[in-house]
Amino acid sequence: MSIVDERAFYHAPVMLQECLDALNIKADGTYSDCTLGGGGHSYAIANKLNSSGTLHAFDRDEEAVAYATKRLAGVAPKFIVHPVRFGELKNEIPANTLDGILYDLGISSHQVDDSERGFTFVGNNPLDLRMDRREGVSAQDWLCNVDADTLAAALRKNADMDRAFKLATRLVEMASEIKRENREILPSDMKSAVESVFPDKRREVNGLLARVFQAIRMEVNGELKEIEDSLRAAVDCLKVGGRLVVMSYHSVEDRCVKETAAEFERACICPENLPVCMCGGNHQRLRKVNRKPILPTNEEIANNSRARSAKLRVYERV
Ligand SMILES: C[S@@+](CC[C@H](N)C(=O)[O-])C[C@H]1O[C@@H](n2cnc3c(N)ncnc32)[C@H](O)[C@@H]1O
Repeated sequence: MSIVDERAFYHAPVMLQECLDALNIKADGTYSDCTLGGGGHSYAIANKLNSSGTLHAFDRDEEAVAYATKRLAGVAPKFIVHPVRFGELKNEIPANTLDGILYDLGISSHQVDDSERGFTFVGNNPLDLRMDRREGVSAQDWLCNVDADTLAAALRKNADMDRAFKLATRLVEMASEIKRENREILPSDMKSAVESVFPDKRREVNGLLARVFQAIRMEVNGELKEIEDSLRAAVDCLKVGGRLVVMSYHSVEDRCVKETAAEFERACICPENLPVCMCGGNHQRLRKVNRKPILPTNEEIANNSRARSAKLRVYERV
């Protein structure tokens, strides 16, 4: 496919109006969209800014960067693309300069739908699962070199999988058989491994496979560490009163967002066993804007099934 093919890149931005409201956009402000993707959220943010405003955008996927840069050409604000991991935020954006930061976590419809990218088990293209194919280790290579304990830990941590050790042992055996055959691991191989460990759950095999793919994808892209590093940097990059807006799509991602943000919601950072506060009690740097996460409407879910698991958390820098 052409790197900027219009139809092949379609990604419907999830909870678009809710994200714009949460960012509380000032027309001359400075914002960062840390997950540019197809540029849906960025385009809408840019349309709320005037020529004194600035929009920074991050993506580690070169196809997303090429497509969205073209889509946003000619917008009013200064548009600065950072084609790097959002874990690099602190090296790219000076402290106390942003009025709002958006994260729309995970992968885009384009990455899933383009079977050549090796993200999907629909079709039967070799697994890759990297957002940036120029760096890191593909899912193929990772599976061929990982031990069962490490893989089981990844299945539990990244996807709350049951029977994780049994499945990991089977996947490691499978990867070494395939390596001996000198061919690539295919989704059909993964499916056979999952079916052999969950013979009683044949009807749920696609759901199980989706969680296995999620766990391996999160590992090869270092996703949880990226989120933690970037959210910690985001707190420094925001001006007082600036908004941190984060949309996650599954419980492991959401837990990581909630726990990382919680580090900055406490005024007192003393160890719990200290009888009196010794830290001064003035360490709070984030406050929740909404007590509970914002969820998509039923109407949005009916129109875009990808929205069904989305949760939007909104914080303000204090
Ligand atoms: C859900 S999509 C974003 C879609 C976008 N909001 C839109 O409206 O088109 C997530 C994007 O974030 C990118 N991404 C995920 N993790 C990243 C990271 N750690 N650093 C940079 N980009 C990342 C992915 O490559 C993907 O393009």
